[in-house]
Amino acid sequence: MTDLVVYDASQVVTPTDDSELETVRDGAVAVDDGVVVAIGPTEEVVREHPPENATTAIDASEKTVLPGFVDPHTHALFAGDRADEFSAKLEGATYQEILAEGGGILRTVRAVREAARDELVENLLRQFDVMLAHGTTTIEVKSGYGLDVETEVKMLEAIGEAGDRHPIDAVATFMGAHAVPENTDADSYVDHVVEEQIPAVAERGLAEFCDVFCEAGVFSVDQSRRVLEAGRERGLKPKIHADEFERLGGAQLASELGATSADHLLQSTTEDVSALGDSGVTPVLLPGTAFALATDYADADAFERADIPVAIATDCNPNCFSQSMEFAIELACNGMRMSPASAVRAATKTAAAALDRTDGAGTLQRGAPGDLVVADVPDFEHLPYNFGVRNVETVVKGGEVVRRD
Ligand code: NIG
Ligand code: FE
Repeated sequence: MTDLVVYDASQVVTPTDDSELETVRDGAVAVDDGVVVAIGPTEEVVREHPPENATTAIDASEKTVLPGFVDPHTHALFAGDRADEFSAKLEGATYQEILAEGGGILRTVRAVREAARDELVENLLRQFDVMLAHGTTTIEVKSGYGLDVETEVKMLEAIGEAGDRHPIDAVATFMGAHAVPENTDADSYVDHVVEEQIPAVAERGLAEFCDVFCEAGVFSVDQSRRVLEAGRERGLKPKIHADEFERLGGAQLASELGATSADHLLQSTTEDVSALGDSGVTPVLLPGTAFALATDYADADAFERADIPVAIATDCNPNCFSQSMEFAIELACNGMRMSPASAVRAATKTAAAALDRTDGAGTLQRGAPGDLVVADVPDFEHLPYNFGVRNVETVVKGGEVVRRD
């Protein structure tokens, strides 16, 4: 008896260690005890795992089976929205101008400070439902709309609770250094993050990673280094928002510290690209952010030329309000000129690497978590080709169907 068998798929797709993507025509996948136990041609897989003996059997004729998407960079937990800023941006206001006037992140901070923890949990569960419907089975969520001990802890607790209550796996990142709160300066605020927030978060075991917005007018390279080193001393692995608007040196800092990931990288140079490659930092590109801000996209080709795989993420937040990894894949292709194969790998295996997942997450190789999606497309190329729609139809987490149209 097998827990789950998906069979007769027109294509089964998985990233492997050596090639970009491996595809199987008329393929099948079997999952038992939460992990993939077989992948291959339907004929072979069903010999050992007959669908009629499986607890759940899915006929995937004319459909494509892929690993569940991993979304490795989001600020999906917030209160309120900033739809009016969207309109202001369309009329020419910039992201930094809005922030400098107390809007943007600082406005969301005011809303999150006022929100009760339960309200935050409900907000995040709603986002998770949409994400799951688009095929995301693992997601990173950052704090960073609190900027004080009490609210940062409240956010991280809400992320933990939403993760416990939802099929999506939630990975929590502490990002107290997301903005400088009003009425203080960056240096004094970094003291507060290092001396008060990081110990409070670490003592409660609320986060796996520590992130910082290393950007002109926000936190300098030295301030970012202080935050990330203090986090690391307390067991929080470093991540960094690097070179988004200005090339301040965030990518170089990520390499120096051996961060798990460096994210955004819109202004990074070839020197930065090789530094990241040499130090094994996973680059995370966020095409939705460039789309939302109508700016140039990150230079995905520079990474491709250097043979460094990149991850992609939604960056879901009130400035870039998209929950869909399907859309991120489309934008990776249409905006950054990535091949569909590279984009799918970026949304699965490399995205899992950006979260330091080493259990095969983001693949359908034997032994990997039984997280997969069935998309109503004949092959993976049709995912970005047929854009602006939801192609994902069925989502499986740990061998259980958790969403089906
Ligand atoms: O990754 N750049 C900084 N942080 C977020 C935006 C958060 C917000 O605007 O609320 C980002 O794009
Ligand atoms: Fe971000």
